[in-house]
Amino acid sequence: MNEERGQGLGGWFKARVPLPATEMLTEMGSEPVPGHLKRWWWCLGGTAAILFVVQVVTGILLSFYYVPDPDAAYESVQHITEEVPFGWYLRSLHKWSSNGMVVAVILHVMRVFFTGAYRKPRELNWVIGSFILVTTMAFGFTGYSLVYEQLSYWGATVAGNLTEAAPLVGPALANFMRGGETVTANTLTRFHMLHIGLLPTVMFGLLIAHFVLIRAHGVSEFHFRRDERDSEGKGKTYPFFPDHFLTEVIIGVGLLITVTCVSLIFPAGLEEKANPLVTPEHIKPEWYFYWTFRWLKMVGLKMAVVTLGLAASVFIFWPFIDGAIRRRRPDSELSVGLGIVGVIILTVMTVWEAWVLAH
Ligand code: HEM
Ligand code: HEM
Repeated sequence: MNEERGQGLGGWFKARVPLPATEMLTEMGSEPVPGHLKRWWWCLGGTAAILFVVQVVTGILLSFYYVPDPDAAYESVQHITEEVPFGWYLRSLHKWSSNGMVVAVILHVMRVFFTGAYRKPRELNWVIGSFILVTTMAFGFTGYSLVYEQLSYWGATVAGNLTEAAPLVGPALANFMRGGETVTANTLTRFHMLHIGLLPTVMFGLLIAHFVLIRAHGVSEFHFRRDERDSEGKGKTYPFFPDHFLTEVIIGVGLLITVTCVSLIFPAGLEEKANPLVTPEHIKPEWYFYWTFRWLKMVGLKMAVVTLGLAASVFIFWPFIDGAIRRRRPDSELSVGLGIVGVIILTVMTVWEAWVLAH
């Protein structure tokens, strides 16, 4: 007891939580980071993580005011935008940071893909990442529906039809998602529960698994510059703490300033309230779903669902497909060619749909 008193607050705490916390933190913080992570292109995963934290903080604050009821949802968003002090700012931060997060995730996936960082032994982390990508898009989709504008309502209707057209499980899944045959009051409560309950829980679990594996493997080495090698030709490293941590803090501050400027110039607005009886001329989802809409319009509902399902499976299991190809032809860089074609197709379809929606 006397001994404990001599050690102050630290001693008091250590006696009650007898874990080697300081040692654990020091060990985690001293992880060597490859020199090339000094460039933003290489550490875009950190940018996505920072923007996700912004989403969690602003999302929790918005939840204090948001009411998930078709008769009150739109009005509550209006109240946040027009009456709650700094409500417009919170909403705009949440909106623009969600777009920023999607951009960061897409660029991160491109970096991982084009540097072959998903290859052995990181195949499983790519699979986990694929689920993170789906979760991120599900966040964007359900969030957009919560505003309960015309476009939110009709966007959810199209997504429901798309799900319904899936083979075998489609109709049951669509009914479960909507809580009925069409988009109703049940749909809003379900999307709200998904957006603030299930998806955050799933995302935290996936991100923990993602980070544990990154930590276990270390970030992939990629030496393409002489000045990043030591005298023995090995890649130079630097400590995670404080060097990389401080870089991330600076990136975080820069991102907050940027998102604030965008929010000031383009604050989140409100379109017309949802009206189930009036179909708008153009149903417009978030921009990252434009390519899906284009494809849907080109090939029809059933074909779109089957081909999108196939494409998603190839994406998720690509490290294993690529592994099989490279076992036969070890120097194959087919992935780079396919990746470039994929990026071009997705960009063309997105721009094409944006053009159609604007005219
Ligand atoms: C919110 C989304 C995500 C976050 C916060 C995140 C975070 C990170 C971080 C911090 C790294 C360390 C290196 C870097 O920053 O590039 C990383 C690496 C990695 N990520 Fe992600 N990630 C996300 C999404 C994804 C997605 C969608 C995929 C794939 C479909 C993916 C696959 C990978 C792989 C394979 C690595 C290892 C790369 C290497 O060792 O070079 N991640 N991720
Ligand atoms: C724990 C995490 C989160 C919580 C508690 C949360 C909560 C909310 C709430 C209450 C709303 C409705 C209020 C409003 O429309 O302004 C909303 C809207 C929205 N959320 Fe989230 N959110 C979270 C994470 C995310 C993430 C990760 C994304 C995207 C990647 C996202 C995207 C959106 C979008 C696009 C909207 C509609 C914004 C608008 O136009 O007003 N949210 N969120």
